[in-house]
Amino acid sequence: MMPAYVSHFGLKQAPFTKEVADADLWLPASKTALVDDLVEAVSERSSVVLVGEPGVGKTCVLRALRHRLPQAGFRLTYCHNATLGRRDFYRQLCLALGLTPNATAASVFFSVSAHVEELGRERVHPVFLLDEAHLLHQDTLDHLHILLNYSWDSKALLSLILVGLPELDDRLAARRNRSLFSRLGRRLHISQLTPEDTTEYLRLRLERAGCEREVFPSDSIAMLHEAATGALRDIDRLATAALREAARKKKKLVERDVIARVLDAEATRPGDET
Ligand SMILES: Nc1ncnc2c1ncn2[C@@H]1O[C@H](COP(=O)(O)OP(=O)(O)OP(=O)(O)O)[C@@H](O)[C@H]1O
Ligand SMILES: [Mg+2]
Repeated sequence: MMPAYVSHFGLKQAPFTKEVADADLWLPASKTALVDDLVEAVSERSSVVLVGEPGVGKTCVLRALRHRLPQAGFRLTYCHNATLGRRDFYRQLCLALGLTPNATAASVFFSVSAHVEELGRERVHPVFLLDEAHLLHQDTLDHLHILLNYSWDSKALLSLILVGLPELDDRLAARRNRSLFSRLGRRLHISQLTPEDTTEYLRLRLERAGCEREVFPSDSIAMLHEAATGALRDIDRLATAALREAARKKKKLVERDVIARVLDAEATRPGDET
């Protein structure tokens, strides 16, 4: 059932959910540039680290990459369960690649690297997308540079894209991880949104949901932007709460007082006091 605010604002669907199709992703110049960098990196068969704060749109950028890369020539494999130990990490990779996972750590590693070599012979470039990589076990991190080693480390048959929170950079910079870090040729960062980005994002997502008129006046957007500290997931949550609140009060415009009530309600949630 559609929430009441959806019909109140004459929308076709809830505008700020995570269920946005790859083709409908919001791609301002800053994000297009990131996707360009990723496309270029994998076309050059390099590996990448991409960091950013929670909710700034890292995983959505990976989806935009999936949408942009030509089907032929690349094989993307997405892994997001980073909390596994090394053997289970490779077993998960085997399953994602459609291989039967073997029992021992050596044999699962061998299956994955043999598969990479096989794809190389077929002129397909595999790209392993390791999301939430700040959570990778140290014993997995210790080993990843070995996964990049083919033909005495003279062939670039695989790209790794490690994606995570900024602490991933700190982990990679640690002395113990320098063999891997030195092999990550592109080091990218997603910044928080600017106020102009927030305005454009709200407009685009409302438009995709079937609304072309102004719903959030500019001073409300400024409040939302400041409260969300430039993270898209926080904007989604606050904008949804504000639409719901405005609909309850039968208002067609989400004005500052509505945003203020939403922010107050979040700030005074029972159990949050310290
Ligand atoms: N380019 C985009 N177009 C449309 N919506 C987006 C875009 N980027 C992010 N969003 C919205 O913000 C939400 C959070 O984005 P995403 O999951 O990509 O963040 P993240 O940086 O991967 O966060 P985390 O570090 O918590 O995994 C998405 O569910 C989506 O609603
Ligand atoms: Mg993510």
